[in-house]
Amino acid sequence: MVRSLLALLMLVLAVPAAAADKVASATSPGGVLALDITINGEGRVGYAVSRLGQPVIGESHVGFLLADAPQLLRNFQLTGQIRRSFDQSWEQPWGEWRTVRDRYNELAIGLEEKDKLKRRMTLVFRLYDNGIGFRYELPQQPNLNQVSITEELTQFRVVEPGEAWWSPAFESNREEYLYNRTPISGIATAQTPLTMRTASGVHIAIHEAALVDYSGMNVRQVENGLLEAVLTYSAAGPKVARATPFATPWRVLLITADAPSLYAANTLILNLNQPNALGDVSWVKPMKYVGIWWGMHLDTQTWHAGPKHGATTAYAMRMIDFAAKHGFGGVLIEGWNKGWEDWFATGDDFSFTEPYPDFDIARVAAHGRRKGVSLIGHHETSGNIAHYEDQLEAGLDLYQQLGVQAVKTGYVSDAGGIQARGPDGRIRFEWHEGQVMARHHLKVVREAARRRISINPHEPIKDTGLRRTYPNWVTREGQRGMEYNAWGEPKNPPEHEVNLVFTRMLSGPMDYTPGILSLRGRGDTAIPSTLARQLGLYVVIYSPLQMAADLPENYEANRRPFQFIKDVPVDWEDTRMLAGEVGDFAVIARKDRNSADWYLGAVGDEQERRFDVALGFLAPGRRYRAEIYRDGDRADYRTNPRDIVIENRTVTSGDRLAIRIAPGGGTAVRFVALK
Ligand code: NOJ
Ligand code: CA
Repeated sequence: MVRSLLALLMLVLAVPAAAADKVASATSPGGVLALDITINGEGRVGYAVSRLGQPVIGESHVGFLLADAPQLLRNFQLTGQIRRSFDQSWEQPWGEWRTVRDRYNELAIGLEEKDKLKRRMTLVFRLYDNGIGFRYELPQQPNLNQVSITEELTQFRVVEPGEAWWSPAFESNREEYLYNRTPISGIATAQTPLTMRTASGVHIAIHEAALVDYSGMNVRQVENGLLEAVLTYSAAGPKVARATPFATPWRVLLITADAPSLYAANTLILNLNQPNALGDVSWVKPMKYVGIWWGMHLDTQTWHAGPKHGATTAYAMRMIDFAAKHGFGGVLIEGWNKGWEDWFATGDDFSFTEPYPDFDIARVAAHGRRKGVSLIGHHETSGNIAHYEDQLEAGLDLYQQLGVQAVKTGYVSDAGGIQARGPDGRIRFEWHEGQVMARHHLKVVREAARRRISINPHEPIKDTGLRRTYPNWVTREGQRGMEYNAWGEPKNPPEHEVNLVFTRMLSGPMDYTPGILSLRGRGDTAIPSTLARQLGLYVVIYSPLQMAADLPENYEANRRPFQFIKDVPVDWEDTRMLAGEVGDFAVIARKDRNSADWYLGAVGDEQERRFDVALGFLAPGRRYRAEIYRDGDRADYRTNPRDIVIENRTVTSGDRLAIRIAPGGGTAVRFVALK
C-alpha cells in the first residue's frame, strides 16, 4: 500500500511542472517548414520549428528582462491568433537579383499576462520555405509605457549536433575576427550571422532584420545547443529604451537543405524590411572605384600631411586620370581633411570641411567632373560621433556641392569606445552595435539621402537589410577586409573569404576591397592568395561599390588580369551559387544587369578543389566567348601564387566547365554573349 502510494507520488512528481501545450501552429507556403507555438505550465511561451517533419529548433522560449518593471516572461495566456498569407515580387534598385519574391504565411499570436499587470504583446511569425522571421510587438498600454530592456531572452534551441562557423562577440576588435569552426555545442558568445550545419545536413543561420532603434543581437550558448540572445550593451544601463508602441527587429532563422540555398536565402532578410522610403533613387549609382588608400595601409603614404602625405592635389589628379582611363566611376580620397595627426586617440581633431594645405579639394573635384569621375568622400570619426554629428551637415553639404556621390564613413575605436553625447550633454562610451549607433547610422543615411549621397560605413553596425528601405546605404565593411592582408599577422587565410560568403555575406554587401594584384602587403609580405583568386573575389563578394584596391602602378604592371577588374560589373540581374560548402569553397555565377553577359567567380580554401559545372544558366541557343582567368597548373598560394592562365573558349548553355582551384586559389570567367 505504502509502496504503491509512493509510486503514485513519484509519478506525479515525474510529470514536469512546466509541460507545454501546443496552442497554435503554421506552415510555410510550400509546406517545407512548420512552426508550433507552445505555452507551458508556468505560462512561458515557446516556439519550435521543423523542416519536412524533422525537428530543427526545439521548444525555445521568448521574453524580456526589464530594468524597472517585472520581467515579461511567465504567466502568459493566448488571447488570439491572426493568420495572413502574402506573395508579391518587388524590384531592387540594385542588388544581386533584380526581382525578389516575398512569399510567406504569417501567424500573429496575441499574448496577455494572467496576473494583475495584464501586460500584452504580440508575437508575429513569418514562415518562408527557406526560413522564418519573428518579432515582438509591444502595443501601448498603461502597464507598459516606457520600456527599459536589460535583456531580451529569445532562445534558439538547435536540436541536432553539428558544426558551426562563428566569430566572437563583444571583443575589442568589434566585427573583425576570423571565424571559429567548432561543434555547435562549442559556440561561446557569437555575432550574427552565425552559420551551422547539422549532422543530417540541414543548414541554419541566425541573424536579424530591420535593426531600427534597438540594440544589435548576439547569441550565447546556455547549454548544449541552446543559444540565447545577448543584446549589445549601452552606457545608459538598459540595453534598449523605447516607448510603446514599438516592434523589435525580426529574429531570423534561415533553414535550408544545403549551402547554396542558404546563400540564396539572404533575400529573406530584405523581405523582412520595409520597402524603399526614399522614392526616386536613380541617383544611387553602383560603381567600381579606386582610391588613395592602399598606400596608407602599406605605410608608404600617410593620412596626415607631411612628406608621405597621400592626398595631395597632384596625386589625386593622377588617380582621377587613372580612373578615367580605365573606366572607374569613383576615386576614394582618404586623409584630405585636417585632424589625422593623432586619429587613433579621440577623433576630436577631425574637421570634415577643411582640407590640408596641399590638397585643393575644389580643383580636384572639378578635374573629376571633367573626366566623368566622382570623388568618394571619407568621414573617419574614430568613433567620436558626438564630434561628427556636430559637423555632419556641413561635411555632407560640402560633398554635395562637389558632386560627391558616395561617402565612406569610419568608426575606428575599440568596442565600447564610441563617444556619444547623452541626454544630459555629457559624453558616454557606447558600443558599435548598440541602440545609440542604430540611431546614428540611420541619421547619417537620411542626411546623406537628402543630398543624394550614398553611404558606406566601415566599423559599422551590422547589415540587417535596411538597404531595402534606404537604398543609399549601399555597402559596408563589418568583418576583416583586405586591409588585414596589408598589415601584420595573421592575415586573412584563404578559408576566411570562403567563410565570409556563408556568414557575413548573408547579411548584405561588403566593401572587402579586393584586387591586390601585387599580392604583397606591408614590408613586401605575401598575401595568402593566388592571382586568379583576386579576380574571383569580384564576383564572389558582392558589393555595389567595389574597389580596385591596389596601387595604379600594380595594375599597370598586370594589364592582362587587370582587364577582368575593368570588365566585371557591380550590379546584377540574377545570381546562382553553382557549388558551395560552408568554409570550403563557393562558385557563383551572376548575370550583368545591363547586358546579356554572365560572370563566374570561384574561391576555395587551403585545399585544391575541382568542379565540373553545367553552364545551363546561359541563354539557350546563344554562343558566348568565355574569357577564363584560372590558376595555372603549378599555382599554389604558398609557393607559386602568380601562376595564372588566361584563355578564351566558345561555349553554349549545353556545355560544362571544368574548374580547378589551386590551394588558396580561385577562378574568374566573363561570358560575353556573341551576336
Ligand atoms: C579602417 C577602414 O576599414 C579603412 O578602410 C580606412 O582606411 C581606415 N579605417 C581609416 O579610416
Ligand atoms: Ca576596418
